[in-house]
Amino acid sequence: MGLIEQIKAKAKENPQRIVLPESLEERTLQAASQILSEGIARVILTGDPAAIKEKASGLGITNLDEARIIDPAKHEKKEVYTDLLTDLRKHKGMTRDQAATLVEDPLYLATLMIKNGDADGEVAGAANATGDVLRPAFQVVKTLPGIKVVSGAFIMMLSKKEFGENGTLVFADCAVHPDPTAEELAQIAVATGHTTRAIAGFNPRVAILSFSTKGSAKHPMVDKVIEATRLAKEMAPEMEIDGELQADAAIMESVGKKKAPDSSIAGKANVLIFPSLETGNIAYKLVQRLAGAQAIGPVLQGMAAPINDLSRGCSVEDIVNLVAITANQAATQ
Ligand code: ACO
Repeated sequence: MGLIEQIKAKAKENPQRIVLPESLEERTLQAASQILSEGIARVILTGDPAAIKEKASGLGITNLDEARIIDPAKHEKKEVYTDLLTDLRKHKGMTRDQAATLVEDPLYLATLMIKNGDADGEVAGAANATGDVLRPAFQVVKTLPGIKVVSGAFIMMLSKKEFGENGTLVFADCAVHPDPTAEELAQIAVATGHTTRAIAGFNPRVAILSFSTKGSAKHPMVDKVIEATRLAKEMAPEMEIDGELQADAAIMESVGKKKAPDSSIAGKANVLIFPSLETGNIAYKLVQRLAGAQAIGPVLQGMAAPINDLSRGCSVEDIVNLVAITANQAATQ
């Protein structure tokens, strides 16, 4: 069974309540129908029920009765969510009137449902930019205790089985935090190790990457990676983590042995942590396009509940897969 099939099978064992707030978006509706028919999750849609049903019937979808539909303009918990949002954002000066307007925004509504225990996770981004999906999540759901930074990991599946874990590697941060400090980079490394265990299903060997291997270059950027490695090892002494390593030293045994002979993971890394969002985002797209890797994600990590962001160019299959991943995260979080 392939990785995605395994993730779907796990999701079906314990179906979670996943909100798809872009409920009038065609691919989202088609994905919702497939998720329901395969039993991957309990789907919650947000919007005017009549409009959603009309759109669905135009697409030939007949099983949306199994989904729960919440109308943001009128539902029984509107006042509860308004109070909740006012309370969560009053230190930033949000008034109750402002909160009452925001709770009608499906992207806020989804996060408030999660915060209030009425849903387990959210997938959005087919129709909205990353920042618009993430901002309500940061403000309402917030981060896990001890974690300050949310980041995005990609599971990269290569045809070349000699790399990583039988051809699979996990890359981060490729999606969220532009310029992490050493402490934030350490948190990203440890969070990615946990994601690797929970979603990719293997033991992480984490390399924190740089343009230097074990002191071969001197620069403040290298110092940041050295410090991040020290902090990450302190945060998760049970996890195999090493740095600073160049990409070739991290993934190629012959180079790793030469450049970092004392490293237990050089040449064998299956998790690659990039020093900035620029490097991570560029690297995953190049590996996807030039090496033909399948890129699954971004899987957002560090949030107190699973919320995942799609690319606006996503397919129906991408949405179904990300809902299955989100359901796995919700079941284990
Ligand atoms: N983790 C946790 N919380 C965060 C993070 C983070 N990484 N970033 C911001 N926040 C919190 C802030 O602390 C703040 O909380 P507060 O209001 O309670 O004080 C809130 O979110 C808003 O913070 P801002 O600094 O105003 O952040 P902003 O909304 O401007 O930006 C964003 C956040 C949108 C995620 C920004 O960092 C961004 O645009 N990142 C790049 C996203 C992107 O374009 N990725 C590439 C495309 S994705 C792809 O290719 C797969």
